[in-house]
Amino acid sequence: MSMRIAVLGAGPSGLAMLRAIDSLRRQGHPVPEVVCYEKQSDLGGMWNYTWRTGLDAYGEPVHGSMYRYLWSNGPKEALEFSDYSFEEHFGHPIASYPPRAVLRDYIMGRIERSGLREQIRFNMAVHWVQRDADSGRFQVTVRDMKADTLITEEFDHVIVATGHFSTPNVPYFEGLEQFPGRVLHAHDFRDACEFTDKDLLLVGSSYSAEDIGTQCYKYGARSVTFSYRSRPMGYQWPSSFEEKPLLLRMEGNTAHFSDGSSKDVDAVVLCTGYRHHFPFLPDELTLRTHNRLYPGQLYKGVVFIDDPGLIYLGMQDQYYTFNMFDAQAWLARDLLMGRLPLPDKAAMQADSEHWQQREQACSNADQEIDFQAAYVRDLVDASDYPDFPIEQVAEIFKQWKRDKKRDILGYRDQRYRSVLTGTLAPAHHTPWMKALDDSLEAFLHEPAPAAKRA
Ligand SMILES: Cc1cc2nc3c(=O)[nH]c(=O)nc-3n(C[C@H](O)[C@H](O)[C@H](O)COP(=O)(O)OP(=O)(O)OC[C@H]3O[C@@H](n4cnc5c(N)ncnc54)[C@H](O)[C@@H]3O)c2cc1C
Ligand SMILES: NC(=O)c1ccc[n+]([C@@H]2O[C@H](COP(=O)([O-])OP(=O)(O)OC[C@H]3O[C@@H](n4cnc5c(N)ncnc54)[C@H](OP(=O)(O)O)[C@@H]3O)[C@@H](O)[C@H]2O)c1
Repeated sequence: MSMRIAVLGAGPSGLAMLRAIDSLRRQGHPVPEVVCYEKQSDLGGMWNYTWRTGLDAYGEPVHGSMYRYLWSNGPKEALEFSDYSFEEHFGHPIASYPPRAVLRDYIMGRIERSGLREQIRFNMAVHWVQRDADSGRFQVTVRDMKADTLITEEFDHVIVATGHFSTPNVPYFEGLEQFPGRVLHAHDFRDACEFTDKDLLLVGSSYSAEDIGTQCYKYGARSVTFSYRSRPMGYQWPSSFEEKPLLLRMEGNTAHFSDGSSKDVDAVVLCTGYRHHFPFLPDELTLRTHNRLYPGQLYKGVVFIDDPGLIYLGMQDQYYTFNMFDAQAWLARDLLMGRLPLPDKAAMQADSEHWQQREQACSNADQEIDFQAAYVRDLVDASDYPDFPIEQVAEIFKQWKRDKKRDILGYRDQRYRSVLTGTLAPAHHTPWMKALDDSLEAFLHEPAPAAKRA
């Protein structure tokens, strides 16, 4: 019987795995049979927008945490697939910070052109994975959501690519149950226009807080107050923004903070991050980690050391995204197929600990970026994933950080040079603060002069 691989999830990480195996097939090598289970009705993972929150039409948890008007928060030049440039996809250079729909189009384009869609079984939610005691193979049980039936199939390897920015981390703050306004987690945030003319409190001081806060300001929020647990973001905010220390309690619509100050607000958005959550895995196969650059229990950041037949993709906190998932998938493919040797358990653990210590020695963003660049370099050097100037990408990330520091509302107007094609991105036709239409059409086509004036 030929090797069978189950890929759980058809987001950028799962699609990277399909693509990695396909690239070997195209070189004329025999490849395993691959089945990809995806609970949404289309590929793209987090990049699919849904208006739904809570449960989907079939009672499964809604995966999407993305919202309307979401624009990339990093330059596209830092996430370009090394085997498929933006210029190849769109046929011409585009600006550096595309909105969600444009990035989704790019992710999907690579897959559509390679004909891999047929390997994906949509509307299939993975409910359980276990090792079968007799065969030693993995049994994967999925729910056919439309038929509402359970199906079990056996595989030699399982690739967990279900993402980790979907199950919200929701702390409790005293008095929230009496708060007269809306309380939601960033996972359920969809439309900034809901908060026009409102005073908003965002708990958290990372990317979601920063992006939802600035976006609500762009669409007319009256004021934005951030509450931080560890440290303020420290950007040069507009005058209607404030950063406060940790929220202690709510009394009516008044938020009280740990420095004794208070603020009346209309809505509270908990931008308090996400949990790695794998309800379909038994304890002995479950990765337990917080959002960090090098989760423990994994060799090369992908192989589950306690059971190397199981692979996790994309479980790291991320500077690098699409190109890192690719590099992980190419390496995982070679380890699973025996094209590269897998060391014994002690050696895998030692290697993983070495990387974790390096991560812990990082004390600022530049060092973290260099750390993740070194990790991606390690993966690319070990596999035949097309090499790309990973260290130049690190410099783009550092420049991005500096651009944000200089102008948090204007950094998306900057442009960067592709490390693949050498092309400097054109300026976008409209500054980000004034670009209210986030559709692919509006991004790619400059509005006619009359429409511009209106
Ligand atoms: C709000 C937000 C904004 C972001 N913005 C950016 C950005 O600007 N730039 C950037 O590079 N990255 C961004 N990211 C990071 C983003 O997570 C990655 O770009 C990328 O989507 C991760 O890919 P993934 O395949 O690992 O996970 P996901 O994209 O989350 O895909 C996982 C897939 O697994 C499926 N799945 C989950 N559970 C099951 C199950 N039980 N059965 C079957 N299928 C299942 C899901 O439906 C989904 O399709 C953002 C993340 C968030 C939350
Ligand atoms: N436009 C975009 O592209 C966009 C927009 C939003 C998000 N994203 C992406 O989404 C991912 C997740 O970002 P995220 O900001 O949601 O998560 P995150 O980076 O993991 O940050 C979580 C935040 O929640 C805080 N927090 C956690 N528990 C808390 C508690 N009990 N009380 C108070 N604060 C608490 C943390 O504070 P500490 O610092 O104290 O730990 C931290 O500030 C990132 O990859 C990001 O790039 C992208």
